[in-house]
Amino acid sequence: MNTKTALPSQGRPQADVLAELKTYASDDPHYKEGRLWSLVYYLNEEYAHFLGEAYQEFSSANGLNPTAFKSLKRFENDIIASVADLLHGTPEVCGVVTSGGTESCMLAVKTYRDLARTRGVTRPEMVLPVTAHVAWFKASEYFGVKVRRLPLDKNLRADVKKLARLCNRNTVMILGSAPEYPHGTIDPIEAFSAIALKRNIPLHVDACVGGFILPFMEMNGRPLPLWDYRVPGVTSISADIHKYGFASKGASTITYRNLDYLKHQMFVYEDWPGGVFASPALLGTRPGGAYAAAWAAMQHFGKSGYRDLAQRTMQAFDQMKQGVQAIPELYVMGDPTGPLLGYGSADPGVNIFAVGDQMDAKGWKVNRLQRPDGLHAMITASHLEVMDAYLSDLQEAVATVKAHPELAQSGSAATYGMMSHIPLRGMVRKKVLDMFAQMYQAGGQDMDLHGGPAHAPEPGLKGQMNAVVERLAQWYVARQQKKTLR
Ligand SMILES: Cc1ncc(COP(=O)(O)O)c(C=O)c1O
Repeated sequence: MNTKTALPSQGRPQADVLAELKTYASDDPHYKEGRLWSLVYYLNEEYAHFLGEAYQEFSSANGLNPTAFKSLKRFENDIIASVADLLHGTPEVCGVVTSGGTESCMLAVKTYRDLARTRGVTRPEMVLPVTAHVAWFKASEYFGVKVRRLPLDKNLRADVKKLARLCNRNTVMILGSAPEYPHGTIDPIEAFSAIALKRNIPLHVDACVGGFILPFMEMNGRPLPLWDYRVPGVTSISADIHKYGFASKGASTITYRNLDYLKHQMFVYEDWPGGVFASPALLGTRPGGAYAAAWAAMQHFGKSGYRDLAQRTMQAFDQMKQGVQAIPELYVMGDPTGPLLGYGSADPGVNIFAVGDQMDAKGWKVNRLQRPDGLHAMITASHLEVMDAYLSDLQEAVATVKAHPELAQSGSAATYGMMSHIPLRGMVRKKVLDMFAQMYQAGGQDMDLHGGPAHAPEPGLKGQMNAVVERLAQWYVARQQKKTLR
């Protein structure tokens, strides 16, 4: 790949630029063939063009000032009203379209921190199940809200019995997910709500994954626990349109039970020489194209279209769940309601990360889980077509690893094994920061966790340190493996 070191001194014809632009995707994951199990929600080229057209129509429009582009505010009003309806909100439910799940989650933390300030809380804390998405831990760092972690019970469900004990005068919010990312379990929102109401603590539901599929699963007759505004203690919900709503990237929502909460999300600065400034969310410029595409996706599918997608997604989900359960060396983690799940190894002789390596080698892109170790799948309707092939490859991958346990000590299995088990967590953090530094330093390099750095080891003390860490990791994984095989 030819990398650019400076802006071309002369501009280039658009056709040339577009032709080269496409070459940059040459080693991207093959999501159009259903090979990727996260990150992308893709249906087909025709639909992608439809979204692209909607996006393009408003790609210059800016939602920074909601009074300037009335079109964007109208999209936002329609989107929020439809989401409130889907989530069984009362007419008081209000909210904002954001750029993604992370922005929605971060805004909830900012809102509840600021709300708690009005009653004198200066050392804010929030209670998060350990399965909460990392966006919440990021929000903790960014907004200075301390996390109290709610552990899981033996079935990998957030242990509600321990929730009340973690709440105190400084607790600004409690979080539950519908569903959580690692295992696809819906947290016990009704039980959380009872405690939240008793203690007068706001309860946010992270439905970034579930917001645009759980309501349709329920409409299709799937039994689900209650998790939305029908639960009285729920004060806000985040729901991503760019996941199971099949919008272009850059569209999520955060809604609140009423304006009394939402007003703490707003930012106003009245003394700026640039003018009086007000903003409802984190971003300054807000991308009109993303709003338009999100609106278009929702209008295109309507309830019937989303129900159909949910039906096909759950068919694929059920097939995968049963297929994994039928492999004796594997088990499905927890009790996932869909549309995603995690699975691990039930056989000490089969290293699940080595199974992941085998799946990668067969052209699948599968995410890794830790605590417990596992592989992950975020399932969409498009995966229905490849599910038979996936499950047959998975069976083969397990058989290969069982026959060759030494595979646990090579490839990315060793790296993941080390990263998830080594007790020195600071070392893992340092290693990842070093990798990021290599990627983002001036002239940064591509990095591939699966194959290690795409360049020769660094010379000098730092390179030697990294080599020591790597050797330590290999030793650690080998020792763990010997222990389990004994
Ligand atoms: C439960 C949950 N919340 C929040 C997020 C963050 O969403 P985004 O990647 O759009 O920022 C994710 C992403 O997968 C998620 O699974």
